Amino acid sequence: MNFPPLSTPKDDLDTPALCLDLAALEANIRDAIKLCRRSGIAWRPHAKCHKSPDIGRRLIDAGAIGLTCAKLGEAEVFAAAGIHELLIANPIAGPRKVERLVALRRKADPIICLDHLDQALPIHSAMQAAGLRVRALIEIDIGLDRVGVAPGEAAVALARQVAALPGIKLAGIMGYEGHLLTIEDQAEKAAKIRAALTLLTDTRKLLEQAKIPCPIVSCGGTGSLPFAVLQPGITEVQAGGLIFMDVFYREKCKIGHFRCALTLLTTVVSRPAPDRAIIDAGRKAMNIEIGMPVVRGRDDIRVDRLSAEHGILKLDPSAQNLRIGDRLELIPGYGDLTTVLHNQFYVLKNGLLNDIWPLTARGRLE
Ligand SMILES: Cc1ncc(COP(=O)(O)O)c(C=O)c1O
Repeated sequence: MNFPPLSTPKDDLDTPALCLDLAALEANIRDAIKLCRRSGIAWRPHAKCHKSPDIGRRLIDAGAIGLTCAKLGEAEVFAAAGIHELLIANPIAGPRKVERLVALRRKADPIICLDHLDQALPIHSAMQAAGLRVRALIEIDIGLDRVGVAPGEAAVALARQVAALPGIKLAGIMGYEGHLLTIEDQAEKAAKIRAALTLLTDTRKLLEQAKIPCPIVSCGGTGSLPFAVLQPGITEVQAGGLIFMDVFYREKCKIGHFRCALTLLTTVVSRPAPDRAIIDAGRKAMNIEIGMPVVRGRDDIRVDRLSAEHGILKLDPSAQNLRIGDRLELIPGYGDLTTVLHNQFYVLKNGLLNDIWPLTARGRLE
């Protein structure tokens, strides 16, 4: 593909184009660092929303202690780009994965997460055979009902078994309060997050009483960040999507702290009816499962529905002068599942193309 030259004005970029406003991105990163520092905790932002070593390096340079990854494949990409402090927050299983984890450990210092001894044993054996050790967190189910061992005694029992394996260095615990992000009433949301995270921090106390070291207590997403940072006993948060923001975080999670840095630039390609316009971006350009996108600066235009390659907009009377060729900027409903539909971010500074950042770890699902 022929990329446009740097300094191209935003309005001259071909569409649909996934755009990133550099000033807003940098402000979000600064604000997240400030929020974490004020609470005395570290930030290990999840990279699943950007999958970009260019962004990963900026986060580390700004003060993040490392990155969180969903997959071993993502961690391999970041390690190749020189980022070595990587939490792989999904369980790793199967001989091929274990082999790759050993190879990754030779280059970087990953942390894996475990919720069963059957994940730990083959990893321990392979690390020991290679003369290596890998750090691990015990993942605890704090109510999400996804992965995780039960908090309390069950977690302590697993931690004790893992701590006895020389190929693994137990580094702490993690949990994710993802089931509590969209609670409407903010006092109720705060109380429920506090209760869930207390399951985590009480487990740390039990571990310490049992003389099992637990230096890391990791949790926290963008949709819960302002509450998670207040929890005593937490050492770090994994919130990642805040660097972009989107409609889900802003409207459904009521997170007002950050700016919308990520947009999708589109062009009106058809005007079949006075109150209907069609844009050149459908479900293959943005995800709507978690939330509908909104049109930036145009309350009078609503994204009605998307088919694969068409976006169908409903226009109020004041928007009916919209013409074929006009351009509209959309804030994604959910950035995380939208970015991965694109090959690159067009990075804009003062409305001009400043850089192009590939999503190098996109598709590294294995
Ligand atoms: C393990 C884990 N940590 C943190 C998060 C939060 O990520 P974000 O801040 O991008 O919403 C998620 C989201 O799915 C997650 O699965």
